[in-house]
Amino acid sequence: MQIQNILIIGSGAMGAQIGMVCALAGYRTTLQDVSGEALEQALKQLEARMSRDVEKGRRTRAEADDALGRLSFTTLLPDAAAWADLVIEAATEKLHIKQEVFRTLDAHAPAHAILTTNSSTYGSSKVAEVTGRAEKVCNLHFFNPALVMACVEVVRHEQTSDETVQTVMDLARSLGKEPVLLNREIPGFVANRLMGAIRDEALRLYADGIASYEDIDTAARTALGHPMGPFELMDLVGLDVSYLIRQATYEETGDENELPHPELARLYRAGNYGKKTGEGWYRYTADGAKTPKTLKTAAR
Ligand code: 3HC
Repeated sequence: MQIQNILIIGSGAMGAQIGMVCALAGYRTTLQDVSGEALEQALKQLEARMSRDVEKGRRTRAEADDALGRLSFTTLLPDAAAWADLVIEAATEKLHIKQEVFRTLDAHAPAHAILTTNSSTYGSSKVAEVTGRAEKVCNLHFFNPALVMACVEVVRHEQTSDETVQTVMDLARSLGKEPVLLNREIPGFVANRLMGAIRDEALRLYADGIASYEDIDTAARTALGHPMGPFELMDLVGLDVSYLIRQATYEETGDENELPHPELARLYRAGNYGKKTGEGWYRYTADGAKTPKTLKTAAR
C-alpha cells in the first residue's frame, strides 16, 4: 500500500516530534489536537528544533523549511481523518479517550487507512475492538525524543493482518527508524519492560536511603554507559506519563507490584512532571538546563 498522508493525533512531546519525523521523511503530515494552544506550542518547538539543526549543520535550511511546509495543524479530527492513509495516535494514556478517538477515526478515515497507536500501555486490541477494521490496527511505539531515538516497536494483536504489519514495518524503515516486531501483546512491550526494571530498582535504592537520586543517575551513566540516569530519564519522559503508564498497567493486570512507586506518586500529585513543568526530580531553567534540588536523599 502506498502511504502519502499521515495523521498524528495529539501534539504533546511525542506527537509533535513523531509528526516532524514523518514530515522530514517526505510524508504530508497533519498534527491534530483538541487544543489549538497545544498545536501552536508544538509548532514553535519544532521550528526551534529545526533551526537548531540548521545551525549545527545537521540539515539545510531548505530541507527544514520543506519539512515544516509538509506539516499542517488542525483541531478537527473527522476532517483530518478523511484523507489519512495512516494514523498514529499519540493522545493521553487513557483508554476511554483512545477508544473515542478510534471510533471517530474508523467512521471518517478511508477504508484502506491503517490505524496505529503509540501507546505502550494498551495493546492495540483494546482500540481495535471499537473499530470495524481490526486487521488494520496495531501499535507503533516511538521513544522520547522521537526525533533522535532510532527504535520503534511494532506490536501486532491477534487479528492484525500480515499485510498491515509489513506496511507499518516498511513505513518505520522509511522514517529512518529501526523497527522491532512483537508477535503478541504484553504490557510495556520490550524496551519499557527493560527500562521499568531499572527504574524500579533505582526508586527502591533511593527510597531506602542507600544513595541520592543524583548519585544513582551518575552510576547509571558512568558505570553502565547509559546516556542518562533513570531519574533524569523520568524527568525527560514526564513523571505524569510514567505515573499514568504504571497506574494503567496495574488496572490492566491487577498486580499491585505494578502500582506507581510512592515517591513517583508524590511528585505526580504535586504536579512536578519533570522537564515540561520545570521541576521533577531535578529543577530546570527556562532553556531546559538541569539544576539539582537541595533534597539529596528520600524523606524518611
Ligand atoms: N528533542 C529532540 N532532540 C533532542 C532532544 C529533544 N528533547 N534532546 C536532545 N536532542 C538531540 C539534539 O540534537 C541534541 O543536540 P543539540 O542540543 O546540539 O541540538 C543532541 O540530541 C544531544 O543532546 P544533549 O547534548 O543535550 O544530550 P545527550 O547527548 O545526552 O543526548 C538524549 C540526549 C538523546 C536524550 C540522550 O540522553 C538519550 O538517548 N537519553 C535516553 C533517552 C531514552 O532512554 N529514551 C527512551 C525513553 S522511554 C520512552 O520514550 C517510552 C515511552 O513509552 C515512555
